[in-house]
Amino acid sequence: MQIIKSIAQMQDIAQQLNNQGKSIGFVPTMGFLHAGHESLLAQSRVDNPISILSIFVNPTQFNQASDFEGYPIDLEKDLVLAKKNQVDYVFIPDKTEIYVDAYRYQVQENQHSMLLEGEHRPGHFTGVLTVVLKLLNIVRPQKLYLGKKDYQQYRLIQDMVSAFFMPIEVIGCETLREIDGLAMSSRNVRLNTEERALAPVLYDVLATSKTAYEAQEKLIKYDFIKVEYVTDLESRRYAAVWLGQTRLIDNVEL
Ligand code: PAF
Repeated sequence: MQIIKSIAQMQDIAQQLNNQGKSIGFVPTMGFLHAGHESLLAQSRVDNPISILSIFVNPTQFNQASDFEGYPIDLEKDLVLAKKNQVDYVFIPDKTEIYVDAYRYQVQENQHSMLLEGEHRPGHFTGVLTVVLKLLNIVRPQKLYLGKKDYQQYRLIQDMVSAFFMPIEVIGCETLREIDGLAMSSRNVRLNTEERALAPVLYDVLATSKTAYEAQEKLIKYDFIKVEYVTDLESRRYAAVWLGQTRLIDNVEL
């Protein structure tokens, strides 16, 4: 496994792999890897001779400075997990190199990115789409793996790839859950013991309620849960809630 920090070096490697006709599977992440990321890497491994993982905590997609500053990081553990999952290259770019343009150029989607997460986190999806476009242009994969836990993100990236005629297959992988139903997320580590014990309620309520309204009514009865939204859209139910200082999102197919 090689660790690549320079964009030029990653581009050279991608060029060589493409010249050799080797299909590249790409898993972009912000690090603090867990079993959900491992499932994406496992799928990439099955589908491609080469798997590339990127670790980049993207500042432009955080709409709150405290969320960015408090984002969990454990590079050493991430590298152990990457090796265990037979990653070929770990790309860890620097933010000054990624944003050499000082974020003058941005990818703006003007419809779906305004709903759900986009409505509550202004600018979030512009940050996500911009960084993903940059990463795809550097890594030049044939297949891109994203988790359905961030379903809206997965669909927006899929649409962007198609809108810009990029020859990349975007593969959505099922959400991995803890035994009690809580969707795996790097942010779960921020939950204290009581919050962690309550957190599975989110998935349970989303999956068992007949309507979004019913789900919302059930969730607001919990003193420690602050509901941001519960919305049914195109046969999927989406929600975001706060548990103390931690924001959790989840979605289920209807
Ligand atoms: O889902 C994530 O971890 C991030 O939004 C992504 C896709 C790596 C872009 O920074």
